[in-house]
Amino acid sequence: MIPTIELQKPIIKTQLPGPKAKEIIAADAQYVTPSYPRPDYKLVAEKGYGVWIEDVDGNVFLDCNAGVAVCSTGHCHPEIVEAITKQTASLIHMCGTDYYYRHMPALGKKLDEIVPIEGATKTHFANSGAEAVETALKLAMYHTRRQKFISFFGSFHGRTLGALSLTSSKKAQRLGFMRQALDVVHVPYPNKIRSPFANVTDEESASKATIDWIENRLFQTTTPPEEVAGIVVEVVQGEGGYVPAPKGFLKELRRICDEHGIMLIVDEVQSGMGRTGKMFALEHYEGVKADIMCLAKGIGSGLPIGVCVAKADIMDWHKGAHASTFGGNPVCIASALKTIELLENGLTENAAIVGAYLQNGLRELMKKHDQIGDVRGLGLMVGVEFVESRETMKAAPELRDKIEMTCFERGLIILGCGANTIRWSPPLILTKKNVDVALEIFDQAIAASI
Ligand SMILES: Cc1ncc(COP(=O)(O)O)c(C=O)c1O
Repeated sequence: MIPTIELQKPIIKTQLPGPKAKEIIAADAQYVTPSYPRPDYKLVAEKGYGVWIEDVDGNVFLDCNAGVAVCSTGHCHPEIVEAITKQTASLIHMCGTDYYYRHMPALGKKLDEIVPIEGATKTHFANSGAEAVETALKLAMYHTRRQKFISFFGSFHGRTLGALSLTSSKKAQRLGFMRQALDVVHVPYPNKIRSPFANVTDEESASKATIDWIENRLFQTTTPPEEVAGIVVEVVQGEGGYVPAPKGFLKELRRICDEHGIMLIVDEVQSGMGRTGKMFALEHYEGVKADIMCLAKGIGSGLPIGVCVAKADIMDWHKGAHASTFGGNPVCIASALKTIELLENGLTENAAIVGAYLQNGLRELMKKHDQIGDVRGLGLMVGVEFVESRETMKAAPELRDKIEMTCFERGLIILGCGANTIRWSPPLILTKKNVDVALEIFDQAIAASI
């Protein structure tokens, strides 16, 4: 069920990037948009198998990023390949916005059974995370007949114009685009070690400060609650630094939404689909349910699919209000259904077990390296924040970048997020043995970079 490709360690046999990789990077510079936010290291992928990724020069890396939290079942899981191959031989496309096929209601039904939303749900199919978010925004506006949104600093919801109005994890995402499409107010995410509020010492005080700000400042001044269509939140803030929401925070957001008829829009594009050791990160927050949820990335094991799932009575818009030619393509849905089956049959549990093992190992490294300011996360969604020292907790973004590069040179793929954090978002098939290998490289990379 969990394919173990019996390779023990990365194999680095050329300088990086190697000669073939260099050619592709040069062609890319000539023909491909320069807007992609690629890291300093340059990986030119050719093949993927399990947790391993091979580049064009034959170097093999241990992949603890999974194409940015997408290849949840590992690279080219044989059952995913089989499901996709079978589907491509019978029906590739028929435009579900104009015709019917069995795949759409099948995935809609499966999601209805598993999403943390109270009561009956309906699903709208899209092609990416940003599109799922666009759907959620339009739906909330349509259903509530309101226009304002509340979002969080450090959040990432995509780069299309509506989603960009919410996004705020980096200046580069907004720079040059000036006026935003939607009326969004940002508030600090309750990050206990990076809170702009005074007197924040722990998760509870961080959470309280943000909730007070929303209720006693925003609602009393610029943002009357009766004009707010939705509060959009990541349960674990992803691009902003892999920060899980404090325990009581989402319950408080739920209360605010209930009191004022606001939609609680939960973006689990990165945290969903087994990654946190439960199918959805929201399930770690007992009793809290969403009105609208956005999913993408890990749901398709690498095929492009995004979904917006909402309470059935919220998804009450008219025919023609929102649709997408490719959204819910049968091949992508075949992959999603197989992905969910694999997650339910062991991979989510593996994420919980191996995630705890990884976090323990990282906390051990924290004892050794004073530059690790924080280790946090849920399951196999783990952030390691780098600082100049734990006494000052001053962010060390350059050190983070150096460690990221050194890991690459030694055959470990990890990726930064936030200003000074390294994210671990490996395939959910990762084993404890893989973790031992990864941690050894990570430890050496830290030591070599200080
Ligand atoms: C939480 C979250 N929402 C939305 C998106 C946008 O997804 P996509 O890049 O598929 O448009 C991302 C992408 O990283 C994300 O992490």
